[in-house]
Amino acid sequence: MPWTIERARGEDLDLDQVLAVYRDSGLGERRPVDDRQRMGEMVRNANLVLVARDDDGTLIGIARSVSDFSYVTYLSDIAVACTHQHSGIGRALIDATRKEAPTAKIVLLSAPAAAEYYPHIGFTAHNSAWVLNP
Ligand SMILES: CC(C)(COP(=O)(O)OP(=O)(O)OC[C@H]1O[C@@H](n2cnc3c(N)ncnc32)[C@H](O)[C@@H]1OP(=O)(O)O)[C@@H](O)C(=O)NCCC(=O)NCCS
Repeated sequence: MPWTIERARGEDLDLDQVLAVYRDSGLGERRPVDDRQRMGEMVRNANLVLVARDDDGTLIGIARSVSDFSYVTYLSDIAVACTHQHSGIGRALIDATRKEAPTAKIVLLSAPAAAEYYPHIGFTAHNSAWVLNP
């Protein structure tokens, strides 16, 4: 396999590589990628982070969640570098996230560009999601 998936500690990740994946995937348009401090906090404070790396170790994908490892895993962000999209990495990141917390359901808010993706890989829509913005 030309890429591998592994669990990571957010604080150990190279923030520049993480930012490059967010920008390159397109998700950067919907996240505060120009605010390094906030992005650093987002990555460090997530308690379930899976990453994909290519065969030279470069970060090419990330799934960043907050989980209680029992009931629910909130998948905050998933992003795959555009050159590696549609090669199974997104599905593998979600599978690996599930394996880390197998009894927890995964909940997420989809970006518009991924709205067709989640039903395609087995997610069902929920008709009462609510957001209270800061
Ligand atoms: C959405 C994203 C994470 C998917 O990752 P990926 O590695 O490209 O997806 P996979 O290769 O695992 O795709 C699995 C299947 O979903 C399909 N798929 C991929 N992206 C899709 C999309 N945007 N819409 C619909 N289907 C999609 C693939 O064709 C594949 O289908 P198959 O199993 O029938 O061959 C990735 O494309 C991405 O980073 N997009 C930009 C950032 C973004 O929108 N993130 C989501 C934030 S909520």
